[in-house]
This record gives sequence, C-alpha cells and structure tokens, in this order.
Amino acid sequence: MDKVGIFYGSSTGNTRDVATRLRRAFGEEDADLYDVSETPADRVSAYRNLVFAASTWGTGELQDDWERFLPALRRLDLAEKRVALLALGDQQNYPETFAGWMGVLADELTAGGAVLVGRTEVRKYAFSASNSVRDGRFLGVVIDEDNQAELSAERIEHWVRQLRSEFV
Ligand SMILES: Cc1cc2nc3c(=O)[nH]c(=O)nc-3n(C[C@H](O)[C@H](O)[C@H](O)COP(=O)(O)O)c2cc1C
Repeated sequence: MDKVGIFYGSSTGNTRDVATRLRRAFGEEDADLYDVSETPADRVSAYRNLVFAASTWGTGELQDDWERFLPALRRLDLAEKRVALLALGDQQNYPETFAGWMGVLADELTAGGAVLVGRTEVRKYAFSASNSVRDGRFLGVVIDEDNQAELSAERIEHWVRQLRSEFV
C-alpha cells in the first residue's frame, strides 16, 4: 500500500484527535497527517491514497477550514485517487443532518474521477436522516465523539483494516 495522506479540519479538536488516532492505527510509516487550515491543497497531489476527515457544522455542512480548502482542491486532478471520507457528527442533537456533508463531497469527488473507498454499515447508530447514507450504507465512516466515544476505537481499527485492502 502506498502511503496515505490524511487531511483533516477540526473546529473544537474532536476531528484532530480522531485523525491523530487514525494515523497511529495506520502507523507513522504508512500515513502522514495534515491540518487543512495550514496546508496548501497541492499537498494532496503527492498521494494516491487519501483520507478526508472533517466535522459537521450548521445543518449538515462541512467544517469551516475544509470549506476554505475546497476551492484550491477543486483545481487539482483527483482522477484515479482513492479517497476515503471520515465525518465527525452528533446523531443525538442533529439526527436529521447527521454527518450530512458526505453526500455532496462524495458526488463531487467521484464526478472528478476519484474512487470512493471505505464505505461502512449504518448499524449501531440512531438518527433519522442523513446525506451521508446512500443505498443503505455510509459513504465513509462516521465517528460520534459526543454520544458514542466508547465505540470510536473499534470503529477506527476496523476501518483501517478495511482501508488497507481498498487502498492501492
Ligand atoms: C453549532 C453546531 C452545529 C452542528 N451541526 C451538526 C450537524 O448538522 N450534523 C452533525 O452530525 N453534527 C453536527 N454538530 C456536531 C459536531 O460535528 C461534533 O460535535 C464534532 O465532534 C465536532 O468536531 P470538531 O471538534 O473536530 O469540529 C454540530 C455541532 C455544533 C456545535
């Protein structure tokens, strides 16, 4: 597997923490970690395997630093890149827009030729609606540090095992 580039945006630190744990689970030799608020978007070009990690704000929207990162990312060629999405969300307080940005970003990435990997099951979550679900499965992985922090370690470990087989 080629080295993985993990790009995260975090407003209150939860996504930073989860992205750091994700990197540790891959091992430092297999993954690099970037905060999108202090990284030029063209760093993305160095990787064939990518994790885009962000929290959810507003009503199902992408975290602010990630919103600012997007215009420059859109100018890059992401064709053939393997991209896995990781969303932080809160299913109890935002059950109608749980991790909602995933659908929009996933569509944009696949329209640009990227290959979406790392989809996961929705069981063990409780919410009523979400743009992060398609055909009954999440478009990436969703971590809920507000309500299910005790499940995060297992979710991260399981996802890393899955990504090791879906990355190239
Ligand atoms: C004002 C506000 C709006 C939020 N909106 C949503 C939302 O629409 N959907 C969701 O799943 N989580 C929502 N959240 C929950 C955050 O995504 C969650 O707390 C996350 O862990 C924050 O991660 P961060 O510290 O990396 O930014 C919201 C939180 C706040 C405070």
